[in-house]
Amino acid sequence: MDSLLIKGGAPLCGEVTISGAKNAALPIMAAALLTKEPCVIQGVPDLSDVRFMGQILSWLGAKVRFDAGNVHIEAREVKGAAEYDLVRKMRGSICIMGPLLGRLHKATVSLPGGCVIGARPINLHLKGFEALGARVTIGGGYVRASGRRLTGAPIFLGGRSGSTVLGTANVIMAAALADGVTVIESAACEPEVVDLASFLNAMGARITGAGSPTITITGVKALHGAVHKIIPDRIEAATYAIATAATRGEVTLKSARADHLGAVLDKLREAGVCIETNGAGIKVHRTGKLRPVDITTLPYSGFPTDVQAQMMALMTLTPGISIITERIFESRFMHVSELARLGADIEIEGPSAIVKGGKPLSGAPVMASDLRASAALVVAGLAARGTTTISRVYHVDRGYEDIDGKLRKLGARVERITES
Ligand code: EPZ
Repeated sequence: MDSLLIKGGAPLCGEVTISGAKNAALPIMAAALLTKEPCVIQGVPDLSDVRFMGQILSWLGAKVRFDAGNVHIEAREVKGAAEYDLVRKMRGSICIMGPLLGRLHKATVSLPGGCVIGARPINLHLKGFEALGARVTIGGGYVRASGRRLTGAPIFLGGRSGSTVLGTANVIMAAALADGVTVIESAACEPEVVDLASFLNAMGARITGAGSPTITITGVKALHGAVHKIIPDRIEAATYAIATAATRGEVTLKSARADHLGAVLDKLREAGVCIETNGAGIKVHRTGKLRPVDITTLPYSGFPTDVQAQMMALMTLTPGISIITERIFESRFMHVSELARLGADIEIEGPSAIVKGGKPLSGAPVMASDLRASAALVVAGLAARGTTTISRVYHVDRGYEDIDGKLRKLGARVERITES
């Protein structure tokens, strides 16, 4: 397993190109299962999660080929069941269920199970499938959905923490070939859902309202192949913006979309970070002292839960008290104990973390636990005095393309240690 060795204190300076969005690439790759014709998805990030989705699609019978940031997918013949070990390993692969149901009228997928950030139920996904007329059964670690015909229906997808991103994606993909009209109320509004709808419409689907809480899908007889370029990764962009602020740097985030980052840029400005946006991207510059800010994670366009850990790392460096409240997942504070090993002073009170910031962090060996917690440790290590070693870096590689290479280009002193 690889580790990252970071000598802190170097300001990040220069420019970094933001990769394609992991959370757009996964459902869009799955959507290619809805047609027999070839699809080309451009600007796909080179990440372990994306390569793994490619393996799952191949296992299902599709031809999958990656070349220079594009993935070519041709699903002429498709099996309706995904092997237990494949889906269990990556929760995001649950989004193959909607297209399998839409195309074959049957889908058998292993229950994704929970992860370190929460129970990760799929009840809303299944509620949507049943509303379309599928029969859903669970047994032996698998969930099965099947229906002779799928018929469009009104579906309310709101849950206890707002909507569901992959649940919305799954229902849209199942409804694309159903008979009649489906109206999803309380749909997820994330940019990745909008990107999926754009790809499906390019394939001949009829979807309106993506990006709003009400999405209408008028079923069509068949979908054809399409070429689509993935949106840039707003979470990666936010992570580099925060790392720039943490190291008193000045970085331009090339191809980042400010219109996908409203809540994050607003909070960084409130914290005293200079943000300039132009057509080419976002320029982040930290000169003076930081100010503490309070954050509550919310469904889009609120502050994204996937940036909560990284922002907490920044607030540990900021003199004063910051209160960070996690409203999307029930246990997304795995990074707190590891940040404490670097000297951070954070107390957890139910869904909130109270960060008493301002003391300098000092480097230490820490362990990555999940994707965004690991990103928080990278941010903290870049700012800490001395050396930080982050083990189990495979967590980071799931969602950040060439993170050590990109950081080195920005002047960070970071080295990847590959254990034989
Ligand atoms: C997507 O996960 C993202 N993953 C997550 O990013 C992200 O944190 C999350 O959306 C929220 O924005 C991908 O897109 C691959 P949800 P998803 O269904 O769709 C509850 C990362 O770091 N819920 O929107 O699985 C659920 O428990 C990852 O890149 C139900 O109750 O998340 C949670 O509290 C981590 N029933 C809330 O909704 C359901 O059927 C949001 O979950 C589904 C979800």
